[in-house]
Amino acid sequence: MKAAITGLTHYLPDYVLTNDELSQMVDTNDEWITTRVGIKERHILKDPHAGSSALAIPAVKELLEKTGTRPEEVDCFICASSAPDYRWPSTAAIICDACDIRHAMAYDIQAACSGFLFNLNQARAFIEAGLYKKIIICQAEKCSSFVDYTDRSTCPLFGDGGAAALVEPTDDDSLGVQDAVLYTNGAGNEHLILKAGGSVNVPSHQTVDDKWSYIYQDGRYVFKNAVTMMTQTAGEIMQKNNLTLEDIDWVCTHQANKRIIDAVRQYVGVSEEKVICNIEKVGNTSSASIPIALHTAAQEGKLHKGDTILLAAFGSGFTYGSMILKWADCVI
Ligand code: ACO
Repeated sequence: MKAAITGLTHYLPDYVLTNDELSQMVDTNDEWITTRVGIKERHILKDPHAGSSALAIPAVKELLEKTGTRPEEVDCFICASSAPDYRWPSTAAIICDACDIRHAMAYDIQAACSGFLFNLNQARAFIEAGLYKKIIICQAEKCSSFVDYTDRSTCPLFGDGGAAALVEPTDDDSLGVQDAVLYTNGAGNEHLILKAGGSVNVPSHQTVDDKWSYIYQDGRYVFKNAVTMMTQTAGEIMQKNNLTLEDIDWVCTHQANKRIIDAVRQYVGVSEEKVICNIEKVGNTSSASIPIALHTAAQEGKLHKGDTILLAAFGSGFTYGSMILKWADCVI
């Protein structure tokens, strides 16, 4: 038995923040952002009182409706978020309440930008163990909540978005999650961190003055590790599963920087036509970036049943890894 994605949705807030608008906020320009990062625009949830759950609730409701799933049928619900609504209750609990899901083991996971792969791998383990049968994994990311819009080195990178997937068992072992290699190497913690808001640096005047509620990243260090770690695990999973480049139909990596995506593609050796990329219009939506890119590609008619997709992710932690996913019949 394998775990397959049988339904997929995503949601982006209406407001579009362009590079030109950003260049009125900080000392930057469209040319720098386009050539260094590959992003032209990103969607932003403007309502200051709406959290990440507001980005996932529409996606989950649409998923339930489109797949004909009744809320009481969902037996497990896992939410990945780099920007949870609160420290507790979980964002999963908030989303489930809004969607009337009341009979699921619902909880959050924290794996930063690798959240989708960690989430899907966990759902896969539950399904293969026979524990749950209808699992919703959702990604809820109001990244704008941890971005300092006076810091030109980070504010062009992120966008807001949410995504949801229904994961179910399939008897066809040639479909669904085939394998995953996922790791966390905490040696990189200090290079990509949100310092305040946890139990170490509780909110104070000091943490506000020091801007510790905003993302800190050593861009070049993160860039190098993102390329190395995604490339290594992509090679590892292909070797482990005796896959050659010809076996791979699509490559979809975390959408952090077009240059990172290009570098991984070049190391892996696949042609540009096989790469799923939507960073130009969406930016980095953390854990939601891979499912949003996959859903967009599916809506464009690119993905077909049986296609072999190589996924790779990287995020704070450093969390990272790769997965081989065989596309199944999927309601989009
Ligand atoms: N506009 C204009 N100039 C800029 C901007 C900007 N927006 N940002 C930086 N610069 C300048 C710098 O000040 C610097 O100028 P200097 O040479 O005069 O000092 C120059 O551009 C080069 O700066 P670098 O930081 O070296 O630029 P780099 O090419 O490394 O690009 C970037 C920076 C885009 C952040 C890149 O390093 C990157 O993408 N890193 C990885 C990001 C990532 O993958 N994050 C992981 C996921 S996030 C998560 O897990 C939550």
